[in-house]
Amino acid sequence: MASDPANTPRPAGPDPSAVAALLAGRPPMARPLPFFEPEGAPDAPGPLFADWLAGAFAAGVLDPQVVTLSTIGADGLPDARALVLRDVDADGGGWIFAIDADSPKGRQLAGHPVAAMTLYWPLQGRQVRVRGAVEAAPREVSAAEFATRSPGARAAVLVGRQSEPLASLADYDLAADRVGRLLDLDPAATAPTHTVYTLRAREVEFWQGDQSRRHVRLRYTRTDAGDPAETRWERTLLWP
Ligand SMILES: Cc1cc2nc3c(=O)[nH]c(=O)nc-3n(C[C@H](O)[C@H](O)[C@H](O)COP(=O)(O)O)c2cc1C
Repeated sequence: MASDPANTPRPAGPDPSAVAALLAGRPPMARPLPFFEPEGAPDAPGPLFADWLAGAFAAGVLDPQVVTLSTIGADGLPDARALVLRDVDADGGGWIFAIDADSPKGRQLAGHPVAAMTLYWPLQGRQVRVRGAVEAAPREVSAAEFATRSPGARAAVLVGRQSEPLASLADYDLAADRVGRLLDLDPAATAPTHTVYTLRAREVEFWQGDQSRRHVRLRYTRTDAGDPAETRWERTLLWP
């Protein structure tokens, strides 16, 4: 008997051929891009990042402060998510972000205190990659950073339970209302697990895309013993 196509189980998700059709003939960065001259690059990655970030804001790149933070899970698998970069120290040795230590990424960092950060700015075809060990700041530093946040941002942190299963959006609204009332009563309420982290860069790579694929890559590698106050960097041009 011929099988009924309507009863044939279909794989979940989009038809791969439809995705392939959407992707075909759309190479990324098919537009004029800025030129990057690595010869004139500064001795340390910090000033170059500050320059690229200022250029990204000026050019109208959307959310250039959003980075992808990659960590290692307890199961050994990599994990990654977007989050907001808070600061980079002057020479580019310390990349600062603030998250809930009690979230999956916070627990992953407790188990494996290393991370990678990736930024991609499509309008300019620019990528920045950072790798290194991660350190949590002392409690008072994290509390002070939390206090600088807007009431809405503090409330979002105080709701907590990030990445736990949520039965319904109404449950979230109830929790958010409770936190709103708490903040009305105690505007200085703190979030004990809100934590500032510094990714101590061992390597920082600047990648400038080129329409004709003559991409320019410059990697900074730390060559000092690890004192954050006195960093030294080696610069290496990489094959694209
Ligand atoms: C543009 C953007 C910005 C985000 N910024 C943050 C952030 O600053 N902090 C944060 O904890 N999550 C942020 N998120 C949500 C994270 O990507 C992620 O969903 C959340 O942190 C839970 O991750 P985890 O389960 O790996 O801990 C952002 C997501 C997007 C798309």
